[in-house]
Amino acid sequence: MGHPCHFWFSPDMRAFYLQDEPDNPKNYNDSGTSVSAEELRNTIAVETWHFEGPDAMNLIDEMAEKRGYTSRDRVIISPQSMGDKFETMCKKFYQEHLHEDEEIRYITGGEGFFDVRSIDDKWIRIVVSTGDFIILPAGIYHRFTPSNKNHTEATRLFQSYPKWNSISRPEGDKIEVSSLSAPFSFHPVVWFLATFPFLTSIAFALLVCIHANISMEWLKPPTNLL
Ligand SMILES: [Fe+2]
Repeated sequence: MGHPCHFWFSPDMRAFYLQDEPDNPKNYNDSGTSVSAEELRNTIAVETWHFEGPDAMNLIDEMAEKRGYTSRDRVIISPQSMGDKFETMCKKFYQEHLHEDEEIRYITGGEGFFDVRSIDDKWIRIVVSTGDFIILPAGIYHRFTPSNKNHTEATRLFQSYPKWNSISRPEGDKIEVSSLSAPFSFHPVVWFLATFPFLTSIAFALLVCIHANISMEWLKPPTNLL
């Protein structure tokens, strides 16, 4: 009997390039050109997972702990939960923006679309539904909309002090986000460990040179005796 919980790096997650002129953003608007999970991960550092089964939340907890996400909340995006604000909030979510921190969502109900900019600035639509777990790296332009079912439920994970302001385009162009190329960048501690010995070596070499120079000065005969 297998383990009751399953998770995988979502190989069958549905993502595709968006049609150029979507009629209604809440429809799929699939251009017919699909994008694989590997391509998302390797080009723009978007990670998608799928967790299902009775232990799914435990796996979310483990992942949150590993990545330093200490708080979370739950949102229900629907006319029933938001009332008159629903359409206004949908428009707000659908404005192109970025954040200075990762955006992590675990979808617990309904369906929605994360649109993310490809490496050549085209829109890729990622379809998310119950059990999908998505990580958008800091600094990539994106937007969200529920599908035309008008119902998305999600758990949002946060670090202790998230830089969570939405920065719209083009203001976001002025922001330099160090983790934009997350899979290829190094943690600050790694940079420190890598650069500190190098800088120390340079400083030590300089001290040796200075000392040697001074010592050699001592070895020279006094000029006033020549
Ligand atoms: Fe966002």
